[in-house]
Amino acid sequence: MAVRHFLSLLDLSGAEFRALIARASQLREERARGLSHDTLSHKVLGMIFEKSSTRTRVAFEAAMYQCGGNAIFLSPRDTQLGRGEPIEDTARVLSRMVDIITIRTYEHSKLELFAAHARVPVINALTDREHPCQLLADMQTYFEHRGDIRGKTVAWLGDGNNMCHSYIHAAQLLDFKLRIACPDGYAPDPDIVHAAGDCVSLSHDPLAAARGADLVVTDVWASMGQEEEEQMRRVAFGPYQVTAAVMAAAKADALFMHCLPAHRGEEVSNEVIEGPRSVVWDEAENRLHSQKALLELLLKA
Ligand code: CP
Ligand code: NVA
Repeated sequence: MAVRHFLSLLDLSGAEFRALIARASQLREERARGLSHDTLSHKVLGMIFEKSSTRTRVAFEAAMYQCGGNAIFLSPRDTQLGRGEPIEDTARVLSRMVDIITIRTYEHSKLELFAAHARVPVINALTDREHPCQLLADMQTYFEHRGDIRGKTVAWLGDGNNMCHSYIHAAQLLDFKLRIACPDGYAPDPDIVHAAGDCVSLSHDPLAAARGADLVVTDVWASMGQEEEEQMRRVAFGPYQVTAAVMAAAKADALFMHCLPAHRGEEVSNEVIEGPRSVVWDEAENRLHSQKALLELLLKA
């Protein structure tokens, strides 16, 4: 049977995405009741992280341990990858030792190259282009607070980055409208936008994007790898901060999400992220449950 990878959200169908959310919510509820699971028993996850991580890493490691499996964290500093061993060779070697592999890296093409040489499922733990694992948790969180997102309106304010691309994919799969407001020069990849068709619109007007929205989302202005652009980006993105005024333009019961880590006073005000409509802590917790559901899905394929 062909190996099933999760390199992009589009590797799921809409029906599979909804089923995964339902399973993740079930896992969340069962954990809260103290039930344990052994669905990943004797399985080993290899974890290659070329960028920093708190949530993604801890969620994957905790998911494996809590479900009876194990995880091996592989930093390029301590493996031969950091000394130039080809990614194709690493993929072939790890495939013969572990059951599933997750990678956080820069170029999306590197992830694809790795997956092309892997015999076991490969998960995208974030690339410069996409962050699909985060969307599993974001959508689980929306469904838990407000029900199905079909037909709703989501406002994305800020950078047309990896998170924005995965939001575009989620809009396609789950049938919601995505209004993106970003500064000139920071729009998402036109091919990704084009492929999404009518469900996505672009503007430079954050208040118009937020008007009547059911969910307002943002992310850092400078992603990992863009540290040198921080100063310049702070100027360009200033008007795109999610403030109380932005939330006031959205629906009265609109939620606020942020994948974290957040920079208060930059992309979001302290008042909003700490306010009653912010669900960022549930969103972060759901990384654990949704990644468990993802591991189950890929390992049973
Ligand atoms: N949101 C997210 O992916 O967080 P980490 O970078 O801490 O994994
Ligand atoms: N866009 C951010 C997301 C961090 C989880 C980055 O790539 O750094």
